[in-house]
Amino acid sequence: MTSKNIKKICCIGAGYVGGPTMAVIADRCPQIEINVVDLNEKRIADWNNNDFSKLPIFEPGLDSIIKRCRNKNLFFSTDIEKQISLADMVFISVNTPTKNKGIGAGQAVDLKWVESSARQISKYAKGETIVVEKSTLPVKTAETIKKILLSNKKDSGNNFYVLSNPEFLAEGTAINNLENPDRVLIGGDDENAINALKSIYLNWVPKTKILTTDLWSSELSKLISNAFLAQRISSINSVSAICEATGADVNKVALAVGTDKRIGKYFLNSGPGFGGSCFKKDILNLVYICNFYGLKEVSAYWQKVIEINNWQQNRISKLIVEKLFGTLSGKKIAILGFAFKGNTNDTRESPAIKICKELLEEGVNLAIYDPQVNKKQIESDLGQIENKNISISASEGSWSFSSSIIESSKNSDAILILTEWDEFRDIRWQPIADSMKKPAWVFDTRCITNLDEAKRCGMNIWRIGINYE
Ligand code: NAD
Ligand code: UGA
Repeated sequence: MTSKNIKKICCIGAGYVGGPTMAVIADRCPQIEINVVDLNEKRIADWNNNDFSKLPIFEPGLDSIIKRCRNKNLFFSTDIEKQISLADMVFISVNTPTKNKGIGAGQAVDLKWVESSARQISKYAKGETIVVEKSTLPVKTAETIKKILLSNKKDSGNNFYVLSNPEFLAEGTAINNLENPDRVLIGGDDENAINALKSIYLNWVPKTKILTTDLWSSELSKLISNAFLAQRISSINSVSAICEATGADVNKVALAVGTDKRIGKYFLNSGPGFGGSCFKKDILNLVYICNFYGLKEVSAYWQKVIEINNWQQNRISKLIVEKLFGTLSGKKIAILGFAFKGNTNDTRESPAIKICKELLEEGVNLAIYDPQVNKKQIESDLGQIENKNISISASEGSWSFSSSIIESSKNSDAILILTEWDEFRDIRWQPIADSMKKPAWVFDTRCITNLDEAKRCGMNIWRIGINYE
């Protein structure tokens, strides 16, 4: 392509990636106009809400950027056709969940939304357009996108250049990750297109942190990055069980092991298993790709990372039943945290969903509190509506929504901490212990609370990765 100075960007998909990513580009590049478009009218209306606490995504630091840029050089709309037609560069930032039917169901990625985005671009784009894959995609998807784009070429001036630019942000720290990335990865086969995207990032990212490569290596690197991160979590979670069996402490082991520079200290926190919309789906996709290429041993290796994760989530509910004398019927458990990690309102694949469902099967009453997750979301995730009128004699499991730690713990038999919110680190145990039934238990799956104090207040304690008996 001819060298290009980008003036207008359109981003398809106003989700957890599209929203924050475009907000940071708008903030750092006031000379560029950015239009984020989505099919979901409610989501777009929420992005345009003047009450900044009602933005569709809770992400520290995001609201102040939206305040600075919205309706200056950052716009949210459902006007997909118009914004694609005006853009020099179109980002595809749509959802790529695991397929739930047909060939590859349960493993392969459902590319339905990516394909429909490519069709929209193919139909409406004018002149030379750079198309950037921001979504996480199976290796070689750029080939499919190119075919779709070119199927609708209108005249000789109308052309497309596909780049891969995977996103590495983590929810809860997205703004910091975007403003100070470890690296920006750009894969492509057209130097001018690569340079056009690179010049945007150069507004705030040092040159040495911008890696350029070919399309397939870029697409695959994103899947492998997530697989490596998830693998570390499964490794430390498997160690947590060894620690509980032997009397070692998983935090002390993680510190000793992680101090070796070759291993590193990050992603060694044992917990209730990894959640979030991506780790599981990306590893399943990797497993699918390995099988597709006949790499059975490689696929079995990555599959094990998911199996250990399922096992870790499952063993927590089992252990709680055991500690509470083998039955949960008629008992109340306070659930602290429902989001898949701290500092986000996202519950996709949250370990809390599976663990709560397993506890409900046992006939327990759950009082769920999370600082950012609302009642409607929990109802949808658990597939069960809230029941405030808990009866001790009821044999069916039920749950109710709480708006504070103390409200959820009142008259409960146990507290189960599932998300690492700061608020749970600072719990003052005496009033909580006083409000609970005895014997009172605290199960800390995130190793965050002051358990010595809880013990002094007369509580029985269990923490992941250590044996207190
Ligand atoms: P999301 O579900 O929050 O947002 C996707 C949005 O795309 C939705 O609002 C949906 O309505 C919209 N959409 C789908 N098809 C559309 C179309 N044809 N036209 C207009 N809008 C359309 O998803 P997300 O969490 O932002 O993830 C997006 C991609 O980024 C995924 O591939 C994911 O794997 C990847 N990713 C996610 C994260 C993360 O932290 N969530 C981090 C890195 C990469
Ligand atoms: C993860 C990656 O960290 C991002 O780099 C990537 O861009 C993103 O996936 C994606 O592709 O979607 P995210 O899922 O938002 O980001 O959050 P993480 O901080 O990675 O946490 C994922 C899960 O692992 C959470 O449930 C978290 O509690 C758990 N975790 C994380 C642990 O159990 N232990 C740890 O040490 C770290």
